[in-house]
Amino acid sequence: MMPFRVSLLESGPRDGLQNEALPVAAASKIELVHRLQAAGLRNIEVTSFVSPKWVPQMADNAEVMAGLQRQAGVRYSVLTPNLKGYEAAVLSRPDEIVVFTAASDAFCQRNLNCTVAESIERFEPVVQAARTAGIHVRGVISTTVGCPYQGEVAPSAVADVARRMKALGVEHLGVADTMGVGTPRKVQAAMEAALQHFDLDAVSGHFHDTYGQALSNTLACLEMGVWQYDSSVAGLGGCPYAKGATGNVATEDVVFMLHGMGIETGIELDALVDAGDFICAALGRPTSSRVAKALMAKRA
Ligand code: HMG
Ligand code: MG
Repeated sequence: MMPFRVSLLESGPRDGLQNEALPVAAASKIELVHRLQAAGLRNIEVTSFVSPKWVPQMADNAEVMAGLQRQAGVRYSVLTPNLKGYEAAVLSRPDEIVVFTAASDAFCQRNLNCTVAESIERFEPVVQAARTAGIHVRGVISTTVGCPYQGEVAPSAVADVARRMKALGVEHLGVADTMGVGTPRKVQAAMEAALQHFDLDAVSGHFHDTYGQALSNTLACLEMGVWQYDSSVAGLGGCPYAKGATGNVATEDVVFMLHGMGIETGIELDALVDAGDFICAALGRPTSSRVAKALMAKRA
């Protein structure tokens, strides 16, 4: 089942930066995207079209999108949780939009100010408009193994939301461990629940690394044949409504593991480490990537 090639979606500019307390210049975000695409990333989640009152760091969404020097073959995606977000996003010509909900109502309520069922209703016109416009639609389910407000989440809850996402016309489903509390068997169970409604080629893993389990969880899903994952350069990130959670699994760490296993990614690790170094310097903080630390120490 082990894939020979893996496709990584780089979420650093979006998930990575959305929770930063101090403003990050749009120019730094744009430069980060440019460095990531130069390193070989072909799927980049750039920003979110959400309320600037809820997530101030993404208020420069249109400016960042407008500043990109797009590279052929790169898919630029943005988050759009409702029609207002979609209508603003579409002016920036994203290749993919992302609708996101949760496997637990308690988290959805904090993140989107509505229940899971209400979020799905809000997605209906968004998905319809995007599909009509020929824009790829990805869905993401948060809290698939644990919720900060509700505790454990059953795989049946994940399957139920996956079924509704499929019925909406969502083309690809991301299975997210928002809190980073998942362990390999639990994450496999959540992924299996998603696979009841989506093909193996249409699912991805999105693992936060709070408890240091994200690489193990990635390996567990690789063993199921899952070949698409989200990650963030330097291990940046976290959701403002997932208190206690840290960043995504670091892209550098995933790439190092995959290359070490003989799995292709198309990504140039040294250039990726430089991209991570660039954004960490802009943020004034050290990288969270173990691989980046090791490689930079070796360079020095
Ligand atoms: P709401 O308050 O229920 O929305 O928020 P509303 O329709 O009642 O509107 C309230 C105000 O927001 C109005 O403005 C609207 O115009 C405005 P006001 O009249 O007060 O000036 N508004 C918007 N403005 C800009 N863009 C929009 C938009 N929609 C309404 N799209 C809403 C609903 C979804 C807007 C809000 O809850 C929100 O923005 N939440 C933030 C969600 C978010 O970005 N979370 C982080 C990303 S998700 C994540 O990180 C998890 C993930 O990584 C996977 C994982 O790890 O689990 C993907
Ligand atoms: Mg996330």
